[in-house]
Amino acid sequence: MQNNLPKCLKVLILGDIVGTPGVNILQTYLPAIKKSMCLDLVVANAENAAGGSGLTPSIFKKLKAAGVDLFTLGDHIYKKQEIINTLISENCICKPANYPPSSPGRSFAFTNTIDGVSVAVISLMGRTFMRPVDCPFLAVEKLMPEVNKIANIVIVDIHAEATSDKYLMGHFLKGKVSAVLGTHTHVQTADEQILGDGTAFICDLGMTGPYDSVLGRSVDPVTATTISFLPNQFTVASSDVRMSGVLLEVNVATGKANSISRIQFFEKDLCKKFNGTEEKEVVLQPSI
Ligand SMILES: [Fe+2]
Ligand SMILES: [Fe+2]
Repeated sequence: MQNNLPKCLKVLILGDIVGTPGVNILQTYLPAIKKSMCLDLVVANAENAAGGSGLTPSIFKKLKAAGVDLFTLGDHIYKKQEIINTLISENCICKPANYPPSSPGRSFAFTNTIDGVSVAVISLMGRTFMRPVDCPFLAVEKLMPEVNKIANIVIVDIHAEATSDKYLMGHFLKGKVSAVLGTHTHVQTADEQILGDGTAFICDLGMTGPYDSVLGRSVDPVTATTISFLPNQFTVASSDVRMSGVLLEVNVATGKANSISRIQFFEKDLCKKFNGTEEKEVVLQPSI
């Protein structure tokens, strides 16, 4: 390991980006946030970025240009099939590691920070109330030696419906990875903690998208279909856009997490802070 590496890495990890509102808030504010918070790396789950379901190459490029360094996905990974070439050719985006071996995409993603620190992410799918997939525990156990050849900072996205699946994975991997962070439910949980002596954990990062909604979708069509059973188009909502996730501080030498803090940035506060529409300085929590 080089001696000039930083002692600590500041990493922002964002939950499921939903539709144009989710993409737009990142395009508009992530560059300023990255600079203001002195972030070394940004990781995001982009499974809902294209119209609420899937990811396209052009949206992938927009998010990358905005400052997302590493991408995970989830059960909507192949909804836009044009993403398949990106999944095959890019190192910074991965499929769930417990998907079938023949499914397109890499089993883990990795990058180097500007200071030369290697970081890897692994995506795993839960099995409760979800499509049957291979055992995520055996899949990650098999994968870890290969990942550790590249990086000792490893962030795991456990994309699952059940909180029990996520806690089980957190305890299974404590001491072995830097973080186990849940996605898929789009609702941020308030249980952030350090498991063991250095694995950051939260059950769900929450959603980066419109909160005046049902998990990102406009309320009325979802309600109508729920009551009548008649199909409707579930359009992406547009109001109360927020950026949701956690901020991690990770020890570069050991790969262990020093801290985890929940963040939820409201678009209206970001607008005041970075567009200077308020006389008083707007402080976002944690402070940026
Ligand atoms: Fe999602
Ligand atoms: Fe999902």
